[in-house]
Amino acid sequence: MKNVADSNVLKLAVVILAAGRGERMGSPLPKVLHGIFDKPMLQCVIDSASGLKPSKIVIVVGKNYGEIKDAINKSPHPPFIKGGRGGITKGKQSNLSFVIQKKPMGTGDALSMTKTFLKDFRGTILVLNGDVPLITSETLKKFLSLHRKGRNDISLISFAATNPASYGRILRDRNSRINSIVEDNDATEAQRKITEVNSGVYAIESGVLSLLKEIPLNTAKGEYYLTDVIGIAGNKGYKMNAYCIGSEDEMMGVNTASELMKARKIFRGRLADAWIKKGVTFLDHDSIFISGNVVIGKNTIIYPDVCLEGMTEIGSGCTIYPNVRIVDSVIKDGVVVKDSTVIEGSVIRARAVVGPFAHIRPGCDIGSEAKIGNFVEIKKSVIGDRTKASHLSYLGDASIGKGVNIGAGTITCNYDGKKKSRTTIEDGAFIGSDTQLIAPVKVGKGAYVGAGSTITKCVPPMSLSVSRADQKNIEGWAIKRQFKVHPDLFGTKFKVNKKKRK
Ligand code: UD1
Ligand code: CA
Repeated sequence: MKNVADSNVLKLAVVILAAGRGERMGSPLPKVLHGIFDKPMLQCVIDSASGLKPSKIVIVVGKNYGEIKDAINKSPHPPFIKGGRGGITKGKQSNLSFVIQKKPMGTGDALSMTKTFLKDFRGTILVLNGDVPLITSETLKKFLSLHRKGRNDISLISFAATNPASYGRILRDRNSRINSIVEDNDATEAQRKITEVNSGVYAIESGVLSLLKEIPLNTAKGEYYLTDVIGIAGNKGYKMNAYCIGSEDEMMGVNTASELMKARKIFRGRLADAWIKKGVTFLDHDSIFISGNVVIGKNTIIYPDVCLEGMTEIGSGCTIYPNVRIVDSVIKDGVVVKDSTVIEGSVIRARAVVGPFAHIRPGCDIGSEAKIGNFVEIKKSVIGDRTKASHLSYLGDASIGKGVNIGAGTITCNYDGKKKSRTTIEDGAFIGSDTQLIAPVKVGKGAYVGAGSTITKCVPPMSLSVSRADQKNIEGWAIKRQFKVHPDLFGTKFKVNKKKRK
């Protein structure tokens, strides 16, 4: 029996096949870029593979190479590469390489595209399908150790499928050793009844790669099936094994939109379970959307229909009410985010209350115990501790100190049509309702601005500024009109006293 595994101890390269047409998806977006929430499927596979610290990861891509490369470079990922120290990072992943398969001629052809790239590599090649997004590093580690312990030339992960129709069936001999794989289209009725299926995860010793050129063309499909290498290697006496270690939920392949929905659901359940174990409460974990990069502190309560996206961190003891979307933001301990609020690229400090119906746009730092209420929009602004903007305001490009009161309807007029200017409001200032602050402008410490003012000049500390016109009352002015408009209300009650009117 041949065995090329001995000389190849512990060196690992990963190949991810991602050049397929993805026709069953019925979408112009490359299949592997469809997201499990906000992470492309392919990135999920890369992240799990990265947990094994391979010396290289090669991705086989098709004609949409540029689109795939861009999406992967933009996607947040763990900094597994040399020098990484945990956490999540964005940008280029330095040990990734791309190899192009110009025409999708099948999985066997796709793997053979990496031959030149891997020609000097000696070790184990872990082959993964880019459309098996829920696979975990833990399962891959277990698999590799079984492969190495068994000193196999080729191993694969199989699993028992409740609906095996879209997978290749594992054929075993009388001694239960894997013989070959037969795809559904080519299977006999009896073979179709087999429920042990191929996950598309293989460990192949580099010395065996030369067998790829022996794969025959499947004339019905016009493709070279990687699965055929199992039968070929078996006939030549290479040592093989199929390890039935994956669960169906983890190993599922995503070929259609409805399978993608199912994968998202499984992923959501997996994440929610993990956070529940760490002390997070979800009132309805079926309706939440949490990115895999999000961190949530314990004793935090999350209501239905909440989306936590990107690299968001939620502290402990927070309450996030329904219909809230938080993206790339840091929410410190004890914060309350009320209904229908959007927070993007911002920091909300401890015990602040935000919402309902607030929009915190990128670049904001909302101080501890601050209160941002109904229909308040804030952009690129610092809001000091204990400051309140409780209703209907726009605060943009503003630096607002501590303990400031922003009255209802306050607007920082930050844009003159050409450039943006800043508004500064110092500690303890009081801005009356319906004030416009024409930036650049500053309201000094402890100053008051009267309601309805348009502030164009700086307001000195501890002063009062009012810029509205004096109020005039013309008594009786409305009586004649009201006779006509509302005779039922004012017809007899108000008599014009001409003398008095003078
Ligand atoms: C494949 C396996 C099947 C297995 C299933 C597991 C083959 C022939 N069949 O079937 O036994 O049960 O995965 O999910 O391998 N790809 C390329 N280039 C190509 C064709 C495909 O890179 O020319 C990539 C695809 O992008 C995809 C992966 O290979 O990520 C698998 O291809 P797909 O067409 O989805 O294979 P399945 O029919 O699912
Ligand atoms: Ca597939």
